[in-house]
Amino acid sequence: MIRVEGVSHHFGQLQVLHDVWFHVPAGEVFGFIGPNGAGKTTTLRMMATLLEPAEGRVLVDGYDVSERPADVRRVLGFMPDGFGVYDNLTVTEYLEFFAASYGIGPEARLRTVRAVMELTDLGPLEDRLVQAMSKGMKQRLAIARTLLHDPKVLVLDEPANGLDPRARIEMRDLIAQLRQLGKTIVLSSHILTELSDMVTSVAILERGRMLATGPVGDIGEKLRPERVVRLRLADYPEGCDRPLRDLPAVTHVERGPDGDLRVGYRGKEEVVAQIVRAAVQAELSVLRVEPERDDLEQIFLEVTKGELQ
Ligand SMILES: Nc1ncnc2c1ncn2[C@@H]1O[C@H](COP(=O)(O)OP(=O)(O)OP(=O)(O)O)[C@@H](O)[C@H]1O
Ligand SMILES: [Mg+2]
Repeated sequence: MIRVEGVSHHFGQLQVLHDVWFHVPAGEVFGFIGPNGAGKTTTLRMMATLLEPAEGRVLVDGYDVSERPADVRRVLGFMPDGFGVYDNLTVTEYLEFFAASYGIGPEARLRTVRAVMELTDLGPLEDRLVQAMSKGMKQRLAIARTLLHDPKVLVLDEPANGLDPRARIEMRDLIAQLRQLGKTIVLSSHILTELSDMVTSVAILERGRMLATGPVGDIGEKLRPERVVRLRLADYPEGCDRPLRDLPAVTHVERGPDGDLRVGYRGKEEVVAQIVRAAVQAELSVLRVEPERDDLEQIFLEVTKGELQ
């Protein structure tokens, strides 16, 4: 749905993007992650036709952002980082104003605004002044605004920035709902944990260079070919690790600090099934099997080598 192909960019002398490539397939919730100044906003602004790439090209739904900006804007909704000042409007007025600017006629406008307010849970706040809204509410209003022209693609710059845990969960649920409606969604963040339970794929950018991109699980596999599954047994008879060690995919077996068997293996998740089968055949009483998670935070720290806080 979105293709970023060999994009480089500079502001004056400052080179901010270096040959960036990635692809966001339709229907994904795509996390664009990187520390401050990595070039996330610059890239997202290109997708939204607000900036032309100096080199390379960006395609949205097949349209080149430099050649067909109007077509791109029709299919894409962009939420910038930070909120415009229209403080003296109510929620309804604010959305009607933007609906009008999208050229939606008066009658359809009311319907559209109602539908969008319902989707984003802003109904109860329809008469609230924008200036009297909390950050979480404003963030939802900003997303509501991007939905007015029913775009296929949503590009949200730092949507979870500054939200408290509850507002963040509401944001996560809204994103999930939008995904179910068939939207393709790109979210950026410099805080990985903000996105880890929302996204299906990620691209990790650092100082204008792409470090890794792909489905969350694949990135984990690529960066850490060896994985660990923990087995809890009712008891641990002498030599209980031997049948597991004998499996070709298993690299090592050790007792963890909690007493569990930690079984290291290479390969896909099917190896876990082999491990459990071998344990059962050796008459070990398996109480619990817990694969080590492909924790996004961990991956992020590994690929950026601690160069960000
Ligand atoms: N209009 C501009 N003129 C000059 N330099 C700019 C401009 N916009 C961005 N930059 C620079 O480009 C680099 C990348 O900025 P960008 O805003 O894309 O980073 P970011 O990943 O969004 O960071 P953050 O997490 O702080 O939002 C930074 O060094 C920034 O100072
Ligand atoms: Mg930014």
